[in-house]
Amino acid sequence: MDINKIKSGLKTDWLGSKIHYQPSVDSTNSWAARTINSGCGRGEVFLTDFQSKGQGRLDRTWESPSEKNILLSLVDNPPPDTKKTHQLTLIAGIGFLDGLKNIFPETALSLKWPNDIILSGKKLGGILSKHQNNSVVIGVGINVNTTLEDFSPTIRNTAISLKIFSGKEYSREEIIASCLNSYEEWRNIYETKGIEIIIKNWEKRSDIFGKSVKITEPHGSFEGIVEMLDADGFLLVKAPDGIKQVISGDVIPI
Ligand code: BTN
Repeated sequence: MDINKIKSGLKTDWLGSKIHYQPSVDSTNSWAARTINSGCGRGEVFLTDFQSKGQGRLDRTWESPSEKNILLSLVDNPPPDTKKTHQLTLIAGIGFLDGLKNIFPETALSLKWPNDIILSGKKLGGILSKHQNNSVVIGVGINVNTTLEDFSPTIRNTAISLKIFSGKEYSREEIIASCLNSYEEWRNIYETKGIEIIIKNWEKRSDIFGKSVKITEPHGSFEGIVEMLDADGFLLVKAPDGIKQVISGDVIPI
């Protein structure tokens, strides 16, 4: 990973003020969280080429072969109302999707609630945010140059990379710089204009609305039609017994 190449592509004011890199760590999210405990500020970015304990949502693991993909965590401030911290995940979704599209202008790229970056119906990337003291760690994994054989059989049918889709290899550094630029832009928009514009733009980038889905939540599952995001950024799904707000869970098109 060439950190100077990332820095030369940055147009940010505060994001990427400091970029930490190690060839291998347990998880960039855990590494960032430890560093926050010993003093680290908004905008610092943690990057690696390999994670031995990559974390996914809902206690899953995040797998990624060495030196092929983007494994990154950034440190941000929570919004003034810390109950709304999950909204930063939506901003990261828009920011990283737009950043990717600058390098890889594909209409098959979209967002799936709450945090998946989808390419041609398969998972290209994921976002995992976590509160740590007075900061938020936003971890992002994007499959860039993985081949199909690199994926374990359990995710081979559901995961994808830019290389699998296009047959070409991409510069991780260029994508990282573009995504950080775009995240900062959208984060600044949120700061000045609020959540409504974020919700509108998130909805524009997702094709899940109006579709039939199965929602699996920690305490059960149900089926319905995806209506919209509510004012807080949670998913509203029309089920046979009324509109339900989904706060956490998986959304599976049926
Ligand atoms: C998901 O389950 O969709 C979220 C995956 C998030 C993976 C990224 S990779 C960089 C950062 N460090 C981690 O351990 N997880 C996140």
